[in-house]
Amino acid sequence: MLNLDRLPYGGDYNPEQWPPPIWDADDAAFDQAHINTVTLGVFAWSLLQPDEQTYDFSSLDAAIDRAERAGRLVVLATPTGAVPPWLASAHPDVMRTDFEGRRHVYGQRHNACPLSPSFARWSVAMADALAARYAGRPSVIAWHIGNEYGGACYCDACARGFRAWLRARYASLDALNTAWNTTFWSHVFTDWDQIVPPNALSEHWRGEDHTAFAGITLDYRRFMTDAMLARFDAEKQAIRRHDPDTPITTNFMGLYRPLDYHRWADALDFASWDNYPPTMHSEARMALTHDLMRGLKQGRPFWLMEQTPSRTASRDVNPVKAPGVMRLWSWQAIAHGADACCFFQMRASRGACEKDHGALLDHSGRTDTRVFTEMAQLGEELERVGGRLLDARTPARVALLYDWDSWWALEMADGPNRKLSYIDVQVAWYTPLWRRGIGVDVVPVDADLSGYDVVLAPALYMIKDDIAERLGAVAARGGTVITGILAGHVDANANTFPMDDPGPLGPLFGVRVDEVDAREPGDRVPVRCPDLDATGDGGLIFELLHPLDEHTQVVARYAGEWFAGTPAATCRHVPARDGDGQAWYLGTLPDEATLDGLLLAAIARHGLCDPAAPAAPGVEHTVRLAPDGRTVHFVLNHGDADVEVPGPVNGQDLLTGRQVRRGAPLALDAHGVCVIEAD
Ligand code: GLA
Ligand code: ZN
Repeated sequence: MLNLDRLPYGGDYNPEQWPPPIWDADDAAFDQAHINTVTLGVFAWSLLQPDEQTYDFSSLDAAIDRAERAGRLVVLATPTGAVPPWLASAHPDVMRTDFEGRRHVYGQRHNACPLSPSFARWSVAMADALAARYAGRPSVIAWHIGNEYGGACYCDACARGFRAWLRARYASLDALNTAWNTTFWSHVFTDWDQIVPPNALSEHWRGEDHTAFAGITLDYRRFMTDAMLARFDAEKQAIRRHDPDTPITTNFMGLYRPLDYHRWADALDFASWDNYPPTMHSEARMALTHDLMRGLKQGRPFWLMEQTPSRTASRDVNPVKAPGVMRLWSWQAIAHGADACCFFQMRASRGACEKDHGALLDHSGRTDTRVFTEMAQLGEELERVGGRLLDARTPARVALLYDWDSWWALEMADGPNRKLSYIDVQVAWYTPLWRRGIGVDVVPVDADLSGYDVVLAPALYMIKDDIAERLGAVAARGGTVITGILAGHVDANANTFPMDDPGPLGPLFGVRVDEVDAREPGDRVPVRCPDLDATGDGGLIFELLHPLDEHTQVVARYAGEWFAGTPAATCRHVPARDGDGQAWYLGTLPDEATLDGLLLAAIARHGLCDPAAPAAPGVEHTVRLAPDGRTVHFVLNHGDADVEVPGPVNGQDLLTGRQVRRGAPLALDAHGVCVIEAD
């Protein structure tokens, strides 16, 4: 796999957008900033292939030669994330048809139909030509196929592809009709050709989340995921014909709903993603996303492939990263298992929509800007320290289940509350553990759960395969499983189970959901937790729980509304070999403090909280274990003020050389970072 001798530091570089005299200055600046890696070729298709017959690799040759002369590593991208004009005009089938059914003409990027025969042919030919030319170049440490696969197409070719995909999945129309519950609204299909993609012209109204038939919409998302994956795979095979072993990836977008990244995981040699958080205070969400990306490859390190050095350009409002924040977020990625720290971009474009996007070098090319200076400092730091962390793992005794199918099915369902966001629930449940430095693996529902003491299953709306039994097995060996709102409501086709909610999870959690009430986000209902001696409140969803027998204890009750006194959260004691296993059910989405209290109470008996942990508001603590047995602790201050926290371990801060003692005060500046190698 990746055999690195240094932590890749650098990122997207498009020298072809600038005249050659600039390149010398760029090289000198890169040296000054300790840039050791460049990602080349992203979106360069129209230059590399000006027409059907002609390939012209001169610009890429020059860029790779230069990188090699400077001793830099190259991540070589296939340029297929944006099609060139000649391809679209000669073969209009490459362009997508959108959700409204409009066939697009040439423009933008991420614009190819995944079922287009012309795109398939020419993208594979391009990958093949690139690999034939550059395979074996020692500087090329990884291939990067396309760019940020995403979106969807609804053209006729996709409709035909969808039907073929459905035939393979269901074999018979009877099975399909059953799966989609088509006796509702007279939808029974009698010929495969009657099936059309679910979009604004067919099953949807008010956008992508409002479908009359969740079954067809779910299947279309699975199909689109597979269709785009097939394009990735075809390019990967083309590269493999020339290059048998250089690792291949594509840059994911983290919590990106349209594509089920778990269906892609096996096809990647390593995972990588682009971190552009929605707000400047998304630290728990970023941490969760890093853990999810690490979980794609069973905990092996991933790459931070892109982040902005300072600001984005595509938002309505684009704040810059304040001093220290770029460094802090870079270290956060590494603290969660990243083995590379890359950026979009090394030099900003002069024109088009990203001309105001942050870069190592802006349009002036100056190397005395704040952004450049901070990047050079980080480059120096990573050069000294980063390599020592390569291939280090992140131990975790807690798993958090993340499932695209549940995400899709929950957010596209009518009722009970469309204002419930899957990501918000996931982040809310993750945050109490993150705050206390408890390592979490974010894994798919079919992951091996046998190594975890605690499994969190927030919003496990869909029950697939044997997940109920495997959660039961965690409790039966003394572990703790926790689920809640809307869990177990539907099967793999988004049909309900002919039983009480939470469906097949009922026996394990020992609870029945009698009714589900819903409120607007601001409309809170008090919740009383006697054991925590606290009253908080819940929001959005209020399940009226009914314990099945005396083995299920009530841990919270509603204290308002017509259902005051009804159980809101329960804990089931599950007989296990060594004492008890436990299965907790939270029937509402409690406020932060109450959720914190409940989750902490649920996991308390596992001793996951280190009493000396450097816990303080906004301070994050993680651990990585190097292959040679060294343990490295990361303490990250996301706050805007200096703090003092207890040192987590005896050791040395690799960034400053200072000694750290466990329990003794450890000072961190605002946005400060401490990387402690344990003695
Ligand atoms: C994405 C893309 C890049 C660039 C950046 C801008 O991550 O991969 O090409 O557009 O966003 O933030
Ligand atoms: Zn299409």
